[in-house]
Amino acid sequence: MKGKKTLDLDAEIKRYRMRAHASKECYSRACQVLPGGVSHQIRAYPPFPVLVTSSDGPRFWDMDGNSYLDYWMGHYALIMGHQPEVVVRQLQAQLDRGIMWGSIHPQEVELAEKLCRFVPSAEKVRFCTTGTEATMFAIRLARGYTGKSLVFKMEGGWHGPSSELLHGVTGQFERSESLGMPDASTDLIQALPFNDLEATAAILSQPGLKDRLAAIIVEPMLGSSWFIPARPEYLQLLRDACSRLEAVLIFDEIITGFRVSLGGAQQYYNITPDLTTMGKILGAGLPLSAVCGKKDIMDRCNPHTAQPKWERVRIGGGTFSCHPLAMAASLALIDYLSDRGEAVYAELEAKGQRFKSMLADIFAHRHIRVALTGIGSLFILHFLDGLDRAPINPREVLNACHYSFKEKILKLLLLNRGIYVMHGGGAISLAHSDQDLDNTAAVFSEIADLIDSELLSTSRLDLD
Ligand SMILES: Cc1ncc(COP(=O)(O)O)c(C=O)c1O
Repeated sequence: MKGKKTLDLDAEIKRYRMRAHASKECYSRACQVLPGGVSHQIRAYPPFPVLVTSSDGPRFWDMDGNSYLDYWMGHYALIMGHQPEVVVRQLQAQLDRGIMWGSIHPQEVELAEKLCRFVPSAEKVRFCTTGTEATMFAIRLARGYTGKSLVFKMEGGWHGPSSELLHGVTGQFERSESLGMPDASTDLIQALPFNDLEATAAILSQPGLKDRLAAIIVEPMLGSSWFIPARPEYLQLLRDACSRLEAVLIFDEIITGFRVSLGGAQQYYNITPDLTTMGKILGAGLPLSAVCGKKDIMDRCNPHTAQPKWERVRIGGGTFSCHPLAMAASLALIDYLSDRGEAVYAELEAKGQRFKSMLADIFAHRHIRVALTGIGSLFILHFLDGLDRAPINPREVLNACHYSFKEKILKLLLLNRGIYVMHGGGAISLAHSDQDLDNTAAVFSEIADLIDSELLSTSRLDLD
């Protein structure tokens, strides 16, 4: 096309190295003492990650003083953005009262009461520290309650790296994701084809399943697998199957909890699971998670029953569970969200819709085929390669979208222009103003001018 600008990838890499020089130096040191230079795999990306030093509102700053409009928002945990005053104030007050008690305290009771009020499935709550613990405990509760062992999860479902659930997350969905795991027995865990009603219904009609199936765990919207929402009829199929098979339906709402509504995705879809796991937003930026659900299931972990301990389920027990700082932060945030009721979610939804339609228009005008997935304030951009609609499962993302362009090259181009995304998208927070979103859209426009089909299909991964 006449006058079309072209992308000089080498110049972009050079620009990145120059602007993030201090990060590069520090990351080289990190690689000497931390495997891969990180403590969470997702935080390393080519050519090297920027190292963060401070944050405020919708932004963070790196070691070189560059500022970034942040759409990663602490693994999507920061619904109010960085350093929200209501949370910081309560944290400071809590620091004066005490850092760590290791005892029951009133905030714990208050927060559990709030969860039971807002989350439709919650009748009782057990708090823990990370999402990984919460999902691991939910599975154990389900197995203990039903006396059965088999768990179905979704292809692409990420529930944290516990040995129970680190299976079928990326690419080869029938396998464990790691060495060092117990044998991946198909009697213990299997991955279902997400959103495929026919194939899933066939698996759920296998003879004898009622005697084997303990639980189905599902994210109502796949999180790390690119924000693909479940079809409502798919969740209903799982709900009906669990009731029929006397198995426990677990919604992993660690991303969707307090993100899509006060009652999470179960309120949004109007489908109530038996157990729910929550984390991320719940802790307002501090480590806090929860398993909640039906009384008779939750009470299987009640230590005060007459049953001997081998007839109870042992979950919880972390030194830092119900950490006073995390509880203070959580209560401040949940009170803020609930005081404003659905207005908060209407605002997030409106920001998300407007931003997603701006991005869609930018690429449509340049005849670049894209789709956006994600409920409300969550968004992921997909560059379509063979699909003519949004992907509905992770296989389609891997096989029919320009996946590596988005993960590597788009990320680099955005970083050079002060925008921080994850998987080509992220979470809009209450701190992102309309102007921030317009500025981000302007950066996407500039990048869209540089994209051609050759660049989209480049498999160049050696960005360093
Ligand atoms: C849906 C879901 N479940 C569980 C987890 C694990 O939570 P955590 O990282 O707090 O252990 C995550 C983390 O990203 C998640 O997205």
